Amino acid sequence: MHAQLEQDFERFKRGLPREFAAHVRAAYRIDLSGRYAGEPLPHPIGKGSGQLSLNAGQLEEDAAAGLAFVVLKTVIAEDETGAQAMAAWAIHETRMRVERRAASDGGRPGWTVTWKGRGWDRTLDEYLGLVRSGRDVTRAGGPLVVPSVKYHLPRLDEPFRDAEYRHTTGRLARAWGTTPLLVEKDFSPTLAGDALADDRAQILRWLREVPGRIRAASPLPVRVAVKLMNARFDDGFQLDMMHAASEADTLVCFNRLFDAERGLAYGGWDLSDRNLRVLNQLTPGASPGFPGLVGTGNIHSGRLILDYARRGCESVELHTFFQLPLSQYPATHGSRTQRALHALVFTPGDGLIAAMLDLEARGEIERRDGELHFLDVRAHAHRPG
Ligand SMILES: Cc1cc2nc3c(=O)[nH]c(=O)nc-3n(C[C@H](O)[C@H](O)[C@H](O)COP(=O)(O)O)c2cc1C
Repeated sequence: MHAQLEQDFERFKRGLPREFAAHVRAAYRIDLSGRYAGEPLPHPIGKGSGQLSLNAGQLEEDAAAGLAFVVLKTVIAEDETGAQAMAAWAIHETRMRVERRAASDGGRPGWTVTWKGRGWDRTLDEYLGLVRSGRDVTRAGGPLVVPSVKYHLPRLDEPFRDAEYRHTTGRLARAWGTTPLLVEKDFSPTLAGDALADDRAQILRWLREVPGRIRAASPLPVRVAVKLMNARFDDGFQLDMMHAASEADTLVCFNRLFDAERGLAYGGWDLSDRNLRVLNQLTPGASPGFPGLVGTGNIHSGRLILDYARRGCESVELHTFFQLPLSQYPATHGSRTQRALHALVFTPGDGLIAAMLDLEARGEIERRDGELHFLDVRAHAHRPG
């Protein structure tokens, strides 16, 4: 199998087959199936919300590459008059820099994207056009496309602006047209850095109430993924947030860190170190009804995908690794998404296939009916050590 992996790695440098998950199953007897908010995925690798899911062209490219899911850029909710309580997040900013960022404990080199922007800066109508393109891509057998929204978040003594929840969710549902509607609710790093997020009780109230408010606002059955921020409190508070949001169908853990001095969100090893450290502390099998988990943060190898999976994640959403200079990918042809998938899955030593085979060799997962299953990795989550 290792010889086959070397061979596949070399030949797929010139082009990755879109149906690579089927190839992995046939050639390696590894079932890469993952899950997002209860929806089955052919493999666990998706794209996180951001600047790489802003237009139909990017969706077409991701469909051709064989990505499993794409979360669209976050739109700022509005009511029927167009009023946006979170308007401060709908700002225009185009300049992005992909930069090296080493772990703060020294050593490990990594990458981050430096960008001052926030949410979708065009109209809701234009966003709905993107949602319809996404629906067509999903229906044609491409990636599962999921809209992302930043809804109104009140202060403790204020009510929620339900009109924003109703209007925005209603329009998304009509644009999507079929059930179930999936919505990812973004709690962003810039929110973590905002005075609104100074108060723990206020944050916990949002997390307790937001999934129900989105459900109540939707004319269609809706599954809610909550993308949790890295709040400016300790690891214990991250766990408190997860428990507060347990009415969600899925928790995405956790959005980028916030550098208050520079007023910037950042990623790299500091982000994955924190996310994995917090996920490590989930109580073993405490609550069977707990939402599914999706990992995000500094994922740039199959091993990191398994680091998140071993802590309970059913899929992963990446941004930075889809944005690196071309020289950083071993593939010589194809879109960045294709090259990234090639590296993540087929790299001998560090890719998902090699890492799954290693887990098998260490006795951490076993074949069932001759196959290894990515989703089985999760069953071993939260083992001591
Ligand atoms: C330039 C940029 C813009 C982003 N915009 C959003 C956004 O609008 N909504 C959101 O939920 N996450 C956003 N993210 C977060 C990413 O989806 C992802 O969760 C995060 O960057 C961690 O993954 P990574 O280390 O692979 O980049 C953004 C990230 C970057 C780098």
